[in-house]
Amino acid sequence: LQLEALERVEKASTLSDLQDIRVAYLGKKGPITEVLRGMGKLSQEERPIIGELANKVREGIANELDVKKAKLEAKELDKKLEQETIDITLPGRPVQVGGPHLLTSIVQEIEDLFIGMGFEIREGPEVETDYYNFEALNLPKGHPARDMQDSFYITEDLLLRTHTSPVQARTMGEYKGSQPVKMICPGKVYRRDTDDATHSHQFTQVEGLYVDKDVRMSDLKGVLNSFAKQLFGEDREIRLRPSFFPFTEPSVEMDISCKVCNGKGCSVCKRTGWIEILGGGMVHPRVLELAGYDPKVYNGFAFGMGPERIAMLKYGVDDIRHFYANDVRFLKQYHKAE
Ligand code: PHE
Repeated sequence: LQLEALERVEKASTLSDLQDIRVAYLGKKGPITEVLRGMGKLSQEERPIIGELANKVREGIANELDVKKAKLEAKELDKKLEQETIDITLPGRPVQVGGPHLLTSIVQEIEDLFIGMGFEIREGPEVETDYYNFEALNLPKGHPARDMQDSFYITEDLLLRTHTSPVQARTMGEYKGSQPVKMICPGKVYRRDTDDATHSHQFTQVEGLYVDKDVRMSDLKGVLNSFAKQLFGEDREIRLRPSFFPFTEPSVEMDISCKVCNGKGCSVCKRTGWIEILGGGMVHPRVLELAGYDPKVYNGFAFGMGPERIAMLKYGVDDIRHFYANDVRFLKQYHKAE
């Protein structure tokens, strides 16, 4: 019996074969169990002899089964390892890398330039009070210039800000009329405009404000000139034209000499050679006063620019809606290699 069993163990080639053999010989219904069960029928002298023999046979088979099991397991592991080897010569799958949105990059670039000129970065709420959005900027209720910034009202007194200028009033208010202010504020603004290639109901502005003693128009011009040259190149010129804003006096609009050329030619400003990129001026004495500054001691300049406009000009983007459509084919053209 033992020999027969050992021969089968020898031939077994899988772990499940071994299990079958174990059940057949050593299981509850196997021959050895049967012998041991029949012990009661044997004589006193026969019992120890048969018992010992049966146990020996059982042990012998069990041992052999264990040895073979270990061998088969090792073999199976080898096989698995062999099948799962990694082919390090296979080319990898390309990893999709994202990057900052063109608008984010341009705003960062603008921020960096102004930080370099000593400005701090400020923020303000997008849901603004009528007071800060208009009133504090010398735009009382009923002022005709409010119409130009047709607005999204939330209540009679709350609206989505139509420009970043309220942050001027907020910042000056925080400083309580007692110290110079030199800040820029990037952020989203909202107007009830119909979207087309050059208009969007939501867009971005960067506000600038410098309040101190003896600030002059020439300081405004110097800062903006330096900014324009750093952003667009040394060969660019700026031009200030008289304009009107209720919160600045005098007010200007700034044009930059332009030579935007893309595949289709240099169409954006072919007509005049100049393109408007911001509005600004000397802070109106009334605005200073409302914020707690004495206009006889302090004065300043302010400006507001549109980063979309600037990015369109710098990169030859022909439709403002590209910034918001989130078409990766557009966006990834402007991802800078890290
Ligand atoms: N807030 C003005 C606008 O949105 C721009 C501006 C800012 C003009 C600061 C003057 C001074 O058109």
